[in-house]
Amino acid sequence: MQVVQTIAECRAARKQVERLALVPTMGALHEGHIALIRHARNLEAFVAVSIFVNPTQFGPREDFTKYPRPIEEDLSKCRDAGADLVFNPPPGEMYGSDAKPILIDIPHLTDSLEGKHRPSHFRGVCQVVAKLLNIVQPSTAVFGLKDFQQFAVLRAMVELLDFPVEMVGHATIRETDGLAMSSRNAFLSPIERRRALAISRALFAAKEQYIEHGINQTSRLVATMKQILLPPASNALTADGDLGRVPVSIDYVAAVDAVTLSPVEVVREPTLLAIAARVGSTRLIDNVVIGEV
Ligand code: PAJ
Repeated sequence: MQVVQTIAECRAARKQVERLALVPTMGALHEGHIALIRHARNLEAFVAVSIFVNPTQFGPREDFTKYPRPIEEDLSKCRDAGADLVFNPPPGEMYGSDAKPILIDIPHLTDSLEGKHRPSHFRGVCQVVAKLLNIVQPSTAVFGLKDFQQFAVLRAMVELLDFPVEMVGHATIRETDGLAMSSRNAFLSPIERRRALAISRALFAAKEQYIEHGINQTSRLVATMKQILLPPASNALTADGDLGRVPVSIDYVAAVDAVTLSPVEVVREPTLLAIAARVGSTRLIDNVVIGEV
């Protein structure tokens, strides 16, 4: 496995092969990332992974500086998963010291959900992924559906700007109890970790209400999810010790058309159920899709 830090080295390494798959990441790799790398292996004979904590996609009050950066562990995980090339540029290599703003905006997909709560987040994501696609020039790029809106936005960017790359989405990888894997789970204390489980439980419960009981009004599904996320403190206390004392605040609990990302009143497959919530001070997102995307 070759590890390169400059754009020039990355371009030179890329020239060795005709086709390759790219898995863009911000590092702190977990089984979700590894599944993407393995999947990329099945799609192309040569796999590149980028590891870059992209400053332009973090808001001023977000966790850019404290985002975990265990680079040595990440490199050995990439090696074990069968990556051929890792591109790990320092921020200066990507943006220089005096980066001018450039905006790729896809408002019809970024005005809702994450885009609404993290203004300019997707501009940063589009900026860095456009650069990575131009630097690495992969034939295939693999992304996780854990960040469902991110995948929708990037797929639209590639389509609308004619990037010659096939975009592949991969199912969310979860812990055995259902919690979606995330680099940010490392910030959770043991009790917050248990409290965070309410997010996936809420999503699964709502999907089950639709599938098992035919409840298709999204207001009812959203109410179910909110009830599970924010149980009355007294119940939570009796159910599990101090669990009710962990503050959970909801950014959104939404049911949207999984293609347009516009709110729907009645489930029309495919519908996306999505949650963003802060457990303690850690912001987590998760989603499930009803139907096929
Ligand atoms: P990061 O959060 O490191 O995620 C890298 C890729 O792994 C993304 O495509 C994400 O959707 C996927 N991923 C994360 N957790 C997953 C899980 N539990 N199951 C399946 N896939 C999962 O997303 C980013 O980085 C950045 O925004 C990036 C696209 C690299 C641009 O900076």
